[in-house]
Amino acid sequence: MGSVEYLTTPPTANAPGLQLVDRYIDEPRSLRVAVIGGGLSGITAGILLPAKVPGIRLTIYEKNAELSGTWLTNVYPGVRCDIPSHAYQSTFAPKADWSDAFSYGPEIRDYWQSVARQHNVYQYVALQRRVEAAVWDEATGTWAVTVQDVSDLASPATTATFDVVVTAVGRFDNWSLPDYPGLADFQGHLRHAQNWDPSFDPAGKRVAVIGNGASGIQLVTNLQRTVQRLDHYVRNRTWIASSFAASGITTTAEDADATAADSQQHHERQAFAQPYSAQDRADRLADPAAYLAFRKSIEAKYWQRFATVFRDSPANATIRESFTKTMVERVAKKTALLDDLIPDFAPNCRRLTPGPGYLEALTEDNVDYIRTPIARFTATGIETSDGVHREVDAVICATGADTTQSALAPPFPVRGRGGKLLSDVYRARGFPYTYLGTATPGFPNLFYILGPNANGPSGTIPYSVETQTTHISKILRKISREGVRSMAPSTQATDDFVAWANRFFEQTVFSEPCRSWYNAGTPGGFISGLWPGSTSHLTAVRREPRWEDYEYTYLGSGDNKGEEANRFAWYFGNGWTRKEKDQAEDLTGYLHVPGTVSLRDVHEGQYSLP
Ligand SMILES: Cc1cc2nc3c(=O)[nH]c(=O)nc-3n(C[C@H](O)[C@H](O)[C@H](O)COP(=O)(O)OP(=O)(O)OC[C@H]3O[C@@H](n4cnc5c(N)ncnc54)[C@H](O)[C@@H]3O)c2cc1C
Ligand SMILES: NC(=O)c1ccc[n+]([C@@H]2O[C@H](COP(=O)([O-])OP(=O)(O)OC[C@H]3O[C@@H](n4cnc5c(N)ncnc54)[C@H](OP(=O)(O)O)[C@@H]3O)[C@@H](O)[C@H]2O)c1
Repeated sequence: MGSVEYLTTPPTANAPGLQLVDRYIDEPRSLRVAVIGGGLSGITAGILLPAKVPGIRLTIYEKNAELSGTWLTNVYPGVRCDIPSHAYQSTFAPKADWSDAFSYGPEIRDYWQSVARQHNVYQYVALQRRVEAAVWDEATGTWAVTVQDVSDLASPATTATFDVVVTAVGRFDNWSLPDYPGLADFQGHLRHAQNWDPSFDPAGKRVAVIGNGASGIQLVTNLQRTVQRLDHYVRNRTWIASSFAASGITTTAEDADATAADSQQHHERQAFAQPYSAQDRADRLADPAAYLAFRKSIEAKYWQRFATVFRDSPANATIRESFTKTMVERVAKKTALLDDLIPDFAPNCRRLTPGPGYLEALTEDNVDYIRTPIARFTATGIETSDGVHREVDAVICATGADTTQSALAPPFPVRGRGGKLLSDVYRARGFPYTYLGTATPGFPNLFYILGPNANGPSGTIPYSVETQTTHISKILRKISREGVRSMAPSTQATDDFVAWANRFFEQTVFSEPCRSWYNAGTPGGFISGLWPGSTSHLTAVRREPRWEDYEYTYLGSGDNKGEEANRFAWYFGNGWTRKEKDQAEDLTGYLHVPGTVSLRDVHEGQYSLP
């Protein structure tokens, strides 16, 4: 007992068939990762994943000829953010000199492309490459991703192999024209808002705009001034908010006053441009500390909107009253409109639409606000169900994207275990079936950025995209570090999430009977457009992945043919770290001058192994 020989003999005899893998535990596995989509989500992934996941080999597929997604393709008149520019941007790559308080599309497009350039994202990007399919292969634990070069549609599609696929395909990219009888007969100019033809000049023309979502509202406001006549077809009513920030914080008279003051300082969107002065822009560039304070003052408002989403809450009643008052005032010129404008559902049930200038446009003599349902298109115009025919030169369908529940799967076949289609899983359940909006049982090593349930009603989209990407990077580190061959959330954990989400949403106005992309166009349906909770709450959930909610397979110790592998064989390797083999390495990086390291950080760092 106790002889040196005994202590140094590994107990291999106790684990028949198990072979030690000759690798060091601190040498990450090289992971092949495909990100699909190059909007702000794909760009953020292109920055954060390489920074956070050692050994990643990243490819970002984008079907367009450039990055920027929404902000590249939406070029309709007046396209502009409705969250202030200083809040609608990356947290770590801010632009201090935005030209407008609510920038127009081209500046936002250029900003995201410049962020991509600044962070060398283009090295990973394959432009004009449309992903047409992703198929899981259980035998190899990989995804086969089929890609078409859209610059040469005659060329055959190619297939590449990845360990992990991350979708960042956006929620609104999947647009199509509505399905009205006679649509193909229409001889005039016909476009979807997301497919605006820049060569079309609406001045002096008779134009129909279908839809009163954010796009329709912006279009009506902008077109009304130049067209001869504008027919605005509206299926359902919508709340016109005084502003986004105000929607959450003007719950008291004092706040309302403060908001009015903010508005003068350009923090509330107005109908048309709100340019910053050259001096303001130069000052913000010159003084980063002052800029940070300014930025925080704007963004902070977007973290305080949560109280208004609860049914029958005083906060919701206050905004309802305030929006009603504003709407009444703004249509004073044509009060008859009110009967068809004020919704019977609570504000926030649909995504709020501030729409400055929209109600005023509706009261102008050249605008017809039409609630009678469209029956059909004709060669020269649109006929409503009451038999009235209105001739127009152009129809713009601001009818949004296909956000039906099954359409919330990526817009190409995704086949998981057993060849199951993700869209079929969603369709069969009647809602996008996801675990925390990030993954789906039966679809291993597949993760979503800004898919279903991906952001709360507070905070900002770029922030949520960053926290979701960071959450995914923790998962990728685990896959890479521990030799995880596949991981997918369990059905039980996913069912628990769905049940909790349903219960949570019941007490909110989102479950009221309105049609919205929040409920995928099904009033009372599952809320897939939002996280069940605030964005602060979501951040807390994302911080520590719940590894116990996943099911795993592991890389084998030998030829890795898919047999059930010992979970430690690849991970623990040969028992060494690479670092300790190298005499020149600092193995005591955990020692610091006393008082220079917070106790909270002691032995926490990813990269501080001896
Ligand atoms: C007109 C408009 C205005 C908006 N304004 C605001 C706003 O003011 N504030 C706000 O918070 N949000 C706004 N939004 C929502 C906006 O979509 C998000 O804020 C954000 O831009 C989404 O970024 P994304 O990268 O997730 O998606 P997207 O920008 O839609 O990018 C997805 C990308 O995936 C690519 N893609 C899709 N399928 C494939 C495929 N098969 N193969 C390869 N590539 C593919 C697309 O080409 C696209 O480039 C607006 C949306 C629209 C449509
Ligand atoms: N920054 C901005 O100001 C801005 C601008 C544009 C978009 N966005 C973002 O993008 C999202 C999508 O906006 P969106 O306006 O493109 O889409 P949307 O919000 O989904 O609105 C689509 C509109 O089209 C109507 N519609 C759909 N199909 C129709 C049909 N067959 N016949 C008649 N009407 C039809 C819908 O009516 P129903 O209500 O009856 O379904 C709805 O009014 C917004 O919620 C917002 O997040 C923001």
